[in-house]
This record gives sequence, structure tokens and C-alpha cells, in this order.
Amino acid sequence: MRTRAAVCTGLGEPWTVEEIDIDPPHVHEVQVEMAYAGMCHSDEHLRTGDIGAPPEILELMGVDSMFPVVGGHEGAGVVVAVGPEVSQVAVGDRVTAAFIPACGTCFWCASGRQHLCDLGISTLAGPMISDGTWRYHLNGQHMNRMTQLGTFAETLVANEASVVKIPGNAPLRAAALISCGIATGFGSVVDRAKARPGEIVVVAGCGGVGSGAIQGARLVGARWIIAVDPLPFKTEQAKKIGATHSAASLAEAMPIVSELSEGRMADVVVLTPGVLTGDLLAPAAMLGSKDARIVCTAIAPISQMDVQLNIFNLAMYNQTIMGTVFGSVSPRVQVPRLLKLYENGQLEIDELITREYTLDQVQQGYEDLAAGINVRGVVNFGTAS
Ligand SMILES: NC(=O)c1ccc[n+]([C@@H]2O[C@H](COP(=O)([O-])OP(=O)(O)OC[C@H]3O[C@@H](n4cnc5c(N)ncnc54)[C@H](O)[C@@H]3O)[C@@H](O)[C@H]2O)c1
Ligand SMILES: [Zn+2]
Ligand SMILES: [Zn+2]
Repeated sequence: MRTRAAVCTGLGEPWTVEEIDIDPPHVHEVQVEMAYAGMCHSDEHLRTGDIGAPPEILELMGVDSMFPVVGGHEGAGVVVAVGPEVSQVAVGDRVTAAFIPACGTCFWCASGRQHLCDLGISTLAGPMISDGTWRYHLNGQHMNRMTQLGTFAETLVANEASVVKIPGNAPLRAAALISCGIATGFGSVVDRAKARPGEIVVVAGCGGVGSGAIQGARLVGARWIIAVDPLPFKTEQAKKIGATHSAASLAEAMPIVSELSEGRMADVVVLTPGVLTGDLLAPAAMLGSKDARIVCTAIAPISQMDVQLNIFNLAMYNQTIMGTVFGSVSPRVQVPRLLKLYENGQLEIDELITREYTLDQVQQGYEDLAAGINVRGVVNFGTAS
């Protein structure tokens, strides 16, 4: 079938909308008509090469290049067709995209850690996880899809392991944002750092992911929530959803956190800037109290190795530095859980959608993100009822 998709054809190239060909779903695959797709920073990492495998790894994966690639991994839509042996969803079901597939049977899935499913290795680039063949084509050339998805397209064909069924009446616009950014930020605080009532939480980077983190902190009953972002617009928005204080940088947050904690400092520091760099670790650890949890949620350039950190203090302060993928919870648990909080009025999502775009405006959306004028941009495909 022919469909329209926002495609990046090479490193640093802009997102352009192309007519592409997608084959019908094979065994264990589903076809989804997209309703909304969120514009997460991770797609920008793909375009800039921060997320990109070296040639020898690509060769192992049977791929010549990360490009051309259909963008988008945050989104929601309705299943319109299923291939043979699909058991998780049926035609007519509402689903969200899951950027880590969950096979249900690998060691990690079987031990309750679906966010670490071994199929995650396939999400960098390559053919379908179902049978190793290619479903997407641009002028006869095989196409990669962002994390085995490609939500910046009117039609999505993915493995059923890459979608999460949500209730039939679930609001698709909110579900789209929950499917990556909000869930990842929320889980970073609640499920990874396991923040507790009365703790002090610092969130550095107040985009879509940071907005989930701030609300996670609010919902666990954090005493103070300090939003850090160089852009005043972002920290103003952060205060509307639960931040109690703000600062323009980690350094500027130091005296604020020190005063609020009577010198004890923050229990949790979550790093959610657009790009994670090694120089942020030292100030993040300095903001942390004894026994603090420092959560690295943002994505760093794939080849970056250098980190600045006072290791003496790390040990003597008994601190923990932790990474997280998808906030360290299964999307099948987190997405329905957060949808319920949204429906109860406890989780703000509509306020985070600064602008809606058409599919043709994806590049504009990312330029607006870079210009600092969006908390989240969302592609509205105009299909939701
Ligand atoms: N770990 C995961 O599973 C996972 C999932 C989704 C996204 N991510 C990553 O999380 C990060 C955030 O994503 P997003 O979509 O919210 O990005 P975004 O671009 O919407 O927001 C990032 C914010 O960080 C701010 N910022 C930049 N430098 C900063 C600094 N030094 N200190 C404080 N704030 C700073 C920017 O002004 C912006 O408001 C990205 O790196 C993204 O790729 C990781
Ligand atoms: Zn994302
Ligand atoms: Zn698995």
C-alpha cells in the first residue's frame, strides 16, 4: 500500500514527506491507522547521528545505513488490519506505540522487565523483527523505521510486540504523549528512583520527558520539586504542572536546593535535557544529598565515553547513578496506569501540547522544538473521532 511518511534520507538531512510503499502485515504484525504522533527529542538524535550504529554493527544487522528512515516512535492509533497469528490485538483496537518491543518470553520479559526485552537490540535499524524481511520501501529501496515503528506516517505496520492495547474509549491524543515522553519521565522518578513522599526532586530539562518526571514527583508527594531549564518558558510551564521552584542551570539550582533542604540537598536528581553530556554528571551529583539517586534519562551521543565526576564523593555520599530506559517499567503496565491518572484529572497532558502539526510540518515541529517554543509538538493525522 502507498502511504505518506516523514522520512530522513541521510545524516543531518531534514524530515521530508514522501510517498512510500508498505507491504501488508505478515505473521504477528499489525497495521495501524495513526491518529496522533508526539515529537520526542529522540527522533532528533536519530537525525543528528547521536543514535547511530557504526558501519561494522550495521553490517552485522544486515543494514547498509541508518537511512532512509521513517521517523516517530511516540504515538497512538487504531488497528485496521492484522496478519496471521496475531493474538494481542484485533481490528478496531486502540493502541499506543512501544519503542521497546516486548516478546513476553525472553529472560528479561519472563522476569518482569519487559522494558529490557532482548528484542530491544533490533530497534536501532533493520528489517521486521517478525521474520527478518523488509516491509517499508522508498522507490524500491528498503527503509528503516525509528525503533521498529515509524509513527510519522499515516499507516504503521509493526510487530504486535511493539504496540500496547489501550481501552476502546481511551483518548488517543493523550495516549500518544504517554507512550514515550510522559511515561519515561514519570517512571524515571517513580519507578527508577523510587521517590518517596517528602523527598526533594530536581528535574533538569523540562521538555516532554521532564514534564512526566515533574508530575511523577508531584504524584508521589515530593516536598519540593525544582525544575531546571535554561528557557524561562519551560520552567514557567513546569510550575503549572507541579514544580515548586525553578532555576536556569544546575549551578543556579545549588543555592536554592541547599536552602530548601537546610544543606541536606536533593534526594533525587533526574537528567532529562535534550542531549546528555558528561559534564552534567558532576553538578548533578553535587545537587544530590547523601544516598541520592541520580537518574540519567536523556540520551547522550552514542560514542560519548567521558564523564566528569568526583568519585570520592560518590562513594562517601553513598550515592547511586542510574540509567533508565522507558522509566524502567513495562509499557503494558505504565501506559494504562498513566491513562487512568489522566482520566482522573491527576496527570496534565493537554497543557503540554504547545502546538499541533500536520504530517507535512514535522520538520517545522522539530525546528520549533530547537527554537525552544514547544514543550511537545504533536502531529494530528485528522483521523481521530
Ligand atoms: N531513556 C529513555 O528511554 C528515553 C525516552 C525518551 C526520551 N529520552 C531522551 O530524553 C531527553 C529529553 O527528551 P525530550 O523529548 O523531553 O526533549 P526536549 O528537547 O523536549 O526537552 C529538553 C529540555 O532540556 C532543556 N535543556 C537543554 N540543556 C539543558 C541543561 N544543560 N540543563 C537543563 N535543561 C536543559 C531544553 O531547553 C529543553 O526544554 C532526550 O535526550 C531524549 O532523547 C530518553
Ligand atoms: Zn521518545
Ligand atoms: Zn522479551
